[in-house]
Amino acid sequence: MTRMSTLLAVALFATTVGAPALSQAATDDRSLYERLGGTGPITAVVGKFVTIVGGDKRINGYFAKADLVQLKKHLINMVCQASGGPCEYTGRDMKTTHKGMGITGAAFNALVGDLVEALDTFNVPEREKGELLSVLGPMQKDIVEKP
Ligand code: HEM
Repeated sequence: MTRMSTLLAVALFATTVGAPALSQAATDDRSLYERLGGTGPITAVVGKFVTIVGGDKRINGYFAKADLVQLKKHLINMVCQASGGPCEYTGRDMKTTHKGMGITGAAFNALVGDLVEALDTFNVPEREKGELLSVLGPMQKDIVEKP
């Protein structure tokens, strides 16, 4: 075999061996909740997220009087339920919760950025990250008062 065809053979072999894992990830038809890893990883991501928000000077003023223990509990149940998990969100609806806070579009984007940072800390893959963000995105209209 020439050097070039050896390289080609190695590349083909690598592609064939690698392929099942890749296509399996793309066609994994389990719920988002299961693909995220269930309640444990969701709790870890929410914990990290709340810590990041607490240190984010752009938006932490909004949370000055917030009950962070309750907030974490509600966020965990919300993400768990919205991703197809066995939890029940028992908090208030998003419009009532954020009414009168004067949340700006920039603050909303900053918070989403903090969530992405938390998800990245735990190496949550692009597909799951995208799906979670598209569940939360439509809530923007009920949360933002100053676009
Ligand atoms: C998709 C985006 C968001 C989601 C899913 C979300 C979700 C929640 C949830 C589930 C609660 C608890 C509800 C309850 O106590 O009954 C809450 C409370 C709160 N949220 Fe949000 N929120 C979002 C965006 C924001 C933004 C952008 C801000 C401000 C920058 C914000 C500030 C607050 C504050 C201050 C509370 C009150 C906490 C307390 O009273 O103890 N939220 N949010």
